[in-house]
Amino acid sequence: MSKETLPVESRIIPVKRLEEYWERSIEDPEGFWSEHARALQWFKTWDKVLDASNPPFYKWFVGGKINASYNALDVHIKTWRKNKVAYIWEGEPGDTRVITYYQLYKEVNRIAKILKNMGVKKGDRVTLYLPMIPELPMVMLACARIGAIHSVVFSGFSGESLASRINDSNSKILITADGAYRRGKIIPLKEWADKALKLTPSIESVIVVRRTGSKVNMVENRDYWLHELLAGIEPDTYVEPEPVESTHPLYILYTSGTTGKPKGVEHSTGGYLAWVYWTLKWAFDPREEDVWWCAADIGWVTGHSYIVYSPLMHGLTSIMYEGAPDYPHPDRWWSIIEKYGVTIIYTAPTAIRAFMRYGEEWVKKHDLSSLRILGSVGEPINPEAWNWYYKNVGGERCPIIDTWWQTETGGFMISPSAGVELAPLKPGSATFPLPGIDAEVVNDNGKRVEPGERGYLIIKKPWPGMLQTLWKDPERYVEVYYKKFPGFYYTGDYAMRDSDGYFWLLGRADEVLKVAAHRIGTTELESVLVSYPAVAEAAVAGKADPVKGEVPVAFVVLREGYSPLNSLREELVKYVRNQIGPIATPANIFFVDKLPKTRSGKIMRRLLKSVVSDQPLGDITTLEDEASVEEIKKAYDELKKELE
Ligand code: WT7
Repeated sequence: MSKETLPVESRIIPVKRLEEYWERSIEDPEGFWSEHARALQWFKTWDKVLDASNPPFYKWFVGGKINASYNALDVHIKTWRKNKVAYIWEGEPGDTRVITYYQLYKEVNRIAKILKNMGVKKGDRVTLYLPMIPELPMVMLACARIGAIHSVVFSGFSGESLASRINDSNSKILITADGAYRRGKIIPLKEWADKALKLTPSIESVIVVRRTGSKVNMVENRDYWLHELLAGIEPDTYVEPEPVESTHPLYILYTSGTTGKPKGVEHSTGGYLAWVYWTLKWAFDPREEDVWWCAADIGWVTGHSYIVYSPLMHGLTSIMYEGAPDYPHPDRWWSIIEKYGVTIIYTAPTAIRAFMRYGEEWVKKHDLSSLRILGSVGEPINPEAWNWYYKNVGGERCPIIDTWWQTETGGFMISPSAGVELAPLKPGSATFPLPGIDAEVVNDNGKRVEPGERGYLIIKKPWPGMLQTLWKDPERYVEVYYKKFPGFYYTGDYAMRDSDGYFWLLGRADEVLKVAAHRIGTTELESVLVSYPAVAEAAVAGKADPVKGEVPVAFVVLREGYSPLNSLREELVKYVRNQIGPIATPANIFFVDKLPKTRSGKIMRRLLKSVVSDQPLGDITTLEDEASVEEIKKAYDELKKELE
């Protein structure tokens, strides 16, 4: 499969030689980006493409004025796309909604009016805690329309996680739903939100979407049903889109890091929009007649960029699906592709691996011949999964666009292009950086490593979609991304280039886990564990998992007087789920007498990882900074013995 080339008819971007095109983008970023940003509608064009006077606080399209909702909606309703379908939504129970650009536009205007009536102003923060229902993109766009900054919290997070995100962003308004469907059950979302609301003094009003019809507790003069509010708004209500500065924050999205609480990644409006628009065009070559399905949750950046902003700016028809991939049967996704004639599907390797387990007969039941491109994101795709996806889902016709990027990068960074003549795909490699992206693989000293050698992935130049800062924490922004390799953006990922120059992403180099493509910080889990009365100390490591990529495993030292009982183990697992959310559920908790530590008291995390994944220790000379090789070996053997 390694010599797979892209279908000839899909090469529509007039790039003769990738290298030349790429080089120009790096040598003349201002020229390059001023050409591409013109695809968007600006109320005022920028005075300067890139202001690099105060690195690493780069500013894009400075002086420009723009509005995201206008670019996603208004631009289309002035054209024949007015009645084109924006979203085909399918609920988990099988109910559907088909929403045209015009209908979406009208709803967004009415919701924007509601927010305005509640006193929401430009720059105010609004937190959204919603399942995958059409109201989620509607409210995001309504916020963007009036210049409010949205902060979407994944609906799988607990009330506690929600509360800390609301408090960090100091949101005025919370928008949630009565419940959410998941695998045939109803998740009491409002109940979870009620827990958060006890801890969030900044919230003035709560808007509740009716989804499941569950009975909920509504607090007078604070909680309002969305449908009741809408009943008081004229159907043809128009709210002027607020022309915001290019650097005005469009949204905050919290993501896990190596230390402390989740970080509020702040994205701009102008640079971000230009980036998500252009990257989708580059990587997937979307066409008017495409039926695009990004099968992520809008609670993550993938959904923000490639379910909401970019596909709408392109005027595409998107599928939006509410439920679990295998509910009620393992062919739910394939039936959706067949039913709606999906032409591009974009998902994570963990989903592919789960489907592999169910067997290809579930795929074979369906006619998937409408597909023309497959996408992958969120974690490295192993060649077995790549080949299965290519053969069984894509019928050996569709290229696999493996896109490497992060919450912080806003959009795709390393990826093949479906529209450009380029090198053959190699299963497991995301191929090459996009134009505008100057990526390099370096060692600890910042020197480029040899082909075939593992190193850290860094980005050497700013790009339009980059995060602007961390919300209210510029010091942490500099510390996390620009300290390890001064002047360059540090991704936190390991990577390697092969002798053909292809990039291979090799997973996180830091204390961040990727569990089923979701990002979870080990320290986040540890601090929850030690907040439990019986726990003295805790350390978390990622254990390799054939479907999820990795799963968290915890090592716990109990306080004096507590016994390592199974009931306590179960109690702790439940506690973590309640404090963070189901995605953080430890796969196992080991009670140990002590944690392996260096002399300066640092937990030997990589040792823990090797032990739980049943891997040899590997190269330990660079493993831990202060412990001797003998000490590490001894700790490893002791721990292994203890776990047997
Ligand atoms: C981390 C970012 C990108 C949106 C969803 C995840 C890993 C992401 C790939 C890929 C190998 C990948 C990296 C990265 N990752 N895409 N195609 N190949 N690894 O966003 O939650 O911010 O996670 O996901 O480790 O750092 P995120």
